Amino acid sequence: MNKVIAIDGPAGSGKGTITKKVAEKLGLIYIDTGATYRCVALACLRNNINLEEKEKIINLTKSLNIDFDVNGKTYLNKEDVSNLIRSKEVSAIVSPISSIPEVREILVDLQRKMANNKDVIMEGRDITTVVFPNTKYKFYLDADPTERAKRRMKQNEEMGISMSFEEILDSINKRDYNDMHKSVGALKRCDDQIYIDTTKMTIDEVVQTVIENIKNMD
Ligand code: DC
Repeated sequence: MNKVIAIDGPAGSGKGTITKKVAEKLGLIYIDTGATYRCVALACLRNNINLEEKEKIINLTKSLNIDFDVNGKTYLNKEDVSNLIRSKEVSAIVSPISSIPEVREILVDLQRKMANNKDVIMEGRDITTVVFPNTKYKFYLDADPTERAKRRMKQNEEMGISMSFEEILDSINKRDYNDMHKSVGALKRCDDQIYIDTTKMTIDEVVQTVIENIKNMD
């Protein structure tokens, strides 16, 4: 049986960084499901489809070829869009797009296929609850919104994206609300997740904690 480590948590909780490091250390394939929703958002912007045009968004989602390579780069119809999907414009519309149940159905199916017969670590919002509810390795990473905004600010600076701290905090709060109140695939805490509050922890401490828990469950 292949092994699936499922990691959920809000924007800026450190999921991406932690998941990549755990993947490297344990030799697992890293799958960032947020990137799949971001690809749909980028494709909508490029095709001038607005958020009210649900049918068009669903048909567009069906037509897309989304893929990752072994280095974690994201490809949309064979084009490397790893940086483009992090733009302010994509971040502004990705949450409402990810609230469309039909879009989720298509992408959840794709995410499950990506994990087929492979040992993976997958991060997102509904991995522990919808995509792989039967895996025994379930984590929820959390942190205070202010700390998460600080982390996002640093990441944005590294990628040359200019946004003020207030703008980032506001976008995080809006996204938290949307992500937690979706009719399907909402970000949820549940009893069988291992909950880790990373606010006061270093990246290495979180990585270590996740790895120890995985080993204890093996
Ligand atoms: O993790 P991220 O910020 O790149 O995610 C982008 C958006 O996609 C975010 O608003 C939540 C949504 N998302 C989701 O609904 N389900 C997932 N499994 C992953 C992300």
